[in-house]
Amino acid sequence: MPGLEDSLRRPVRGMRDLTPEYYYALKRVEEALSKLAESFGYRRVETPAVEHFEVLAKKAGRDIVNEIYYFRDKAGRELGLRFDMTVPVARVLSYKLDEPKPVRWFYFTKVWRYDEPQHGRYREFYQFGVELVGSASPRADAEVLVLMAKAIEAVGIGDYVIRINDRRVADKALASLGIKPSEEVYRVLDKRGKVSEEELSSMLMGLGIDREKASELLSLISGAVPYAEAPEVISKYDEELAERHRAVVKALEAFGVLSRMAWDPSIVRGLDYYTGIVFEAFAGQYRLAVGGGGRYDDLIELYSGIKTPALGFAIGVERLMEAAGIEKAERPLDYYIYPVSSEAYGVAVEVAEALRAKGASAVVDLGEWGLREALERAAKTGVRHFVIIGKKELEKGVVKIRDMAKREEVEVELSRIKAGL
Ligand code: HAM
Repeated sequence: MPGLEDSLRRPVRGMRDLTPEYYYALKRVEEALSKLAESFGYRRVETPAVEHFEVLAKKAGRDIVNEIYYFRDKAGRELGLRFDMTVPVARVLSYKLDEPKPVRWFYFTKVWRYDEPQHGRYREFYQFGVELVGSASPRADAEVLVLMAKAIEAVGIGDYVIRINDRRVADKALASLGIKPSEEVYRVLDKRGKVSEEELSSMLMGLGIDREKASELLSLISGAVPYAEAPEVISKYDEELAERHRAVVKALEAFGVLSRMAWDPSIVRGLDYYTGIVFEAFAGQYRLAVGGGGRYDDLIELYSGIKTPALGFAIGVERLMEAAGIEKAERPLDYYIYPVSSEAYGVAVEVAEALRAKGASAVVDLGEWGLREALERAAKTGVRHFVIIGKKELEKGVVKIRDMAKREEVEVELSRIKAGL
């Protein structure tokens, strides 16, 4: 039988099969990041993969709306797969109005985007992120930035930078050139680095901005400085905003991560819900952003009718792992138990159960391989201990345990194993 054609054996375009080696590595990252978020008082949240399309489409921005997996269910409801967790969290908090503020929630879960698949860009991927809802304080901005920095450090990346801008400052900068700030302009500017400067100019010109203004705009957003110097730059546009960023600088300094932060006016973000500080994280030589976030003070009001300031970030877990060089985690089997004869099978099962009760992992041979073949396979798959129960052992009331790494064998009394010693 020829079986399925190759394209059907592979996952659907843009999606990936996570085999155990990779999945356990992902699990370890999940554990480290969850511990970090919890240590800052954040609690984990999960929501359905499927959302009302109307909720998803409300403030996503045109590019993202085009990337929503959209379908109708059998009752004709218009639905979509969530493209991030910020929108579902905002929806939950729009009816859970009594949740004590500020709300500190985090997530580590799958999201879906009908993006053009390429290296580091998938249609199904994991996001780890936090949302801090109900505080307008600059310290809240700093707390979220610190968590993002610590999340990157938690996977062993020391060389990273978080590039920060502020939509309110960007609005003023655009206005200073006589350009009306709009989501269309920001969406074009967000493409910076992804398309050529020439293409950017012509896209801006497509929005009615003349060539000269377009090039002025591109040069205005091209200078990055250490974030510590941001208040000085911002005060050219707005003293109140400069003061706000001074407070963020101060808080970041207290946390010792200020040197990792840059003020970069080219960071505008592609999602339409941002209203204040916005940022993206870059790790080492990894070309794509490993994370992004910002303040979205109007989003929850859009769903609940109640003004609720909020901000957060999300990290693309697969990108973060790639940037950190994390590809797989071994989960070696503790014991492979080989009953040499069928009489020994019952004892092998008892031994396996006793070992499992102690928290070890144990496999009982299925009786299809000879001893030598079973040993060879165990060596190849990284089994820690190979347990032999033969006639001789049964007579003596012992089992033979071979330490595969040390290549040493010891005999252990069956009664001791069964007693859990
Ligand atoms: P985002 O920038 O759209 O922001 O996504 C966050 C991160 O998810 C990106 O920096 C990237 O690492 C990863 N990512 C995005 N698209 C893909 C893809 N196609 N394949 C693999 N990884 C990808 C948000 O999602 C906002 N919800 C962040 C936020 C939270 N803002 C406020 N709170």
